[in-house]
Amino acid sequence: MTDSAGLLAGRVVAWQRQHGRHALPWQGTLDPYRVWLSEIMLQQTQVSTVLGYYERFLERFPSVDALAAAPEDEVLALWAGLGYYSRARNLHRCARSVVAEHAGRFPSSAAVLATLPGIGRSTAAAIAAFCFDERVAILDGNVKRVLGRAIGFGEDLAEARHERALWAQAEALLPPSEDMVAYTQGLMDLGATLCTQRAPRCAACPLAEDCVARSEGRPEAYPVKTRKLKRSAREVALLWLAQGDRVWLVRRPARGVWAGLWSLPEFDTREEAREQAATWPGQTTEWPGVTHVLTHLDLYLKPVRHELNAGSPSEEELAARWPEGRWVARADLGAFGLPAPIARLLAASDQLFAAQELVDEREPLQRVR
Ligand code: ADE
Repeated sequence: MTDSAGLLAGRVVAWQRQHGRHALPWQGTLDPYRVWLSEIMLQQTQVSTVLGYYERFLERFPSVDALAAAPEDEVLALWAGLGYYSRARNLHRCARSVVAEHAGRFPSSAAVLATLPGIGRSTAAAIAAFCFDERVAILDGNVKRVLGRAIGFGEDLAEARHERALWAQAEALLPPSEDMVAYTQGLMDLGATLCTQRAPRCAACPLAEDCVARSEGRPEAYPVKTRKLKRSAREVALLWLAQGDRVWLVRRPARGVWAGLWSLPEFDTREEAREQAATWPGQTTEWPGVTHVLTHLDLYLKPVRHELNAGSPSEEELAARWPEGRWVARADLGAFGLPAPIARLLAASDQLFAAQELVDEREPLQRVR
């Protein structure tokens, strides 16, 4: 560690102890199960969103054994609404792997943690630093920004060799092991509270004095990453088959958008959904379109609701059409992992439905995220 590296780490550590976050529910524990769960939930999701989920999840699954023993559906149901569902499936797989291959105890080194499902290099380092004081660097998106600005790392992180170089810099900046908890949390806290993507609050930052990006007067120019996310849009018609208080749900395939969650049967167009509905007696109603924004994709969801007459079709007929389908009573919906926009759609009030008119789909009713 060079003197200037020691200076940076020392400032982060002192700042974290005085001004950082200390009351988050996953702090003050050395239990890697709890720390791991929080780190997975906090990937791509804000602290304020995670708080409610975290406590509920731990109440239901207080240990890695309890989680490993649970059916996947139950894990997905508790995760529903947090998004990025591959995290939940990997979480479950990871718990099973810890139980089956590590005698129910999380490995205590970042290198071994990183072999487990869903645990990448930075997450492994966070767990090892928080629980075992290991001197390993984290480098998630926020930390790339904090360190990238502080040292003025101007290379393009879209290139793997530059990303590797920043990892090496992050390792060179590490403090002694007794400061690893405060340092690791301090980098996260700086990234979340002061060193934000836009309008960073440099006046309050402990690194401002020596921050290269600030001295150049352009902190927002770092980090540099040229590759733009390729975004696309897709229209999906949903057939909302209802009969009394039941709705027909189908389990989505294990890969792709909303993998493994329960949703409504899909069609490419509303016309196809209506044609399918028309084969069974009942009343069809168009439902307002909803735009759901995912990381790479805008989904334009176009529901067609079909209230089936009693007694037809038979469950066998529906199951022949959708082998992964089943009737679910309204009261039981909470036990199924539903994508957030589908859960909202199904929760829409019957009054709204009764007053329903065709809505101009160029004006999505809701934007999500
Ligand atoms: N984001 C990722 N890990 C975090 C943590 N431990 N505390 C707060 N925010 C985080």
